[in-house]
Amino acid sequence: MTDWIDIGTLADIPQRGARTVQIGGGKEIAVFRTGDDHVFALVNECPHKKGPLSQGIVHGHSVACPLHNWNIALKTGEAQGEDTGCTPTIAVKQEDGRILIARPQMAQAAA
Ligand code: FES
Repeated sequence: MTDWIDIGTLADIPQRGARTVQIGGGKEIAVFRTGDDHVFALVNECPHKKGPLSQGIVHGHSVACPLHNWNIALKTGEAQGEDTGCTPTIAVKQEDGRILIARPQMAQAAA
């Protein structure tokens, strides 16, 4: 069964931006809010050289990595275009105005 963690409200995430959360023992998670208020969560590491995706520019449902400008699809974590690589995604949902993310397996193992 999925263990959901409440990380705040939509208003806590800048539109076309991200905030980061630390979940016990796991990697830093970047939670993105798009211009149309969809929310996605990814490990905060670019598949290229681990750039901090949370500091990238969100456009549509993608983020441009701040280091070398790879475009990463927020839904799948996959690099777009000619670049290849994939960042792990984390399930996220909105419920009663709150943002909930699934506790990553790696954090469960460390707990
Ligand atoms: S580290 Fe993200 S594009 Fe190079």
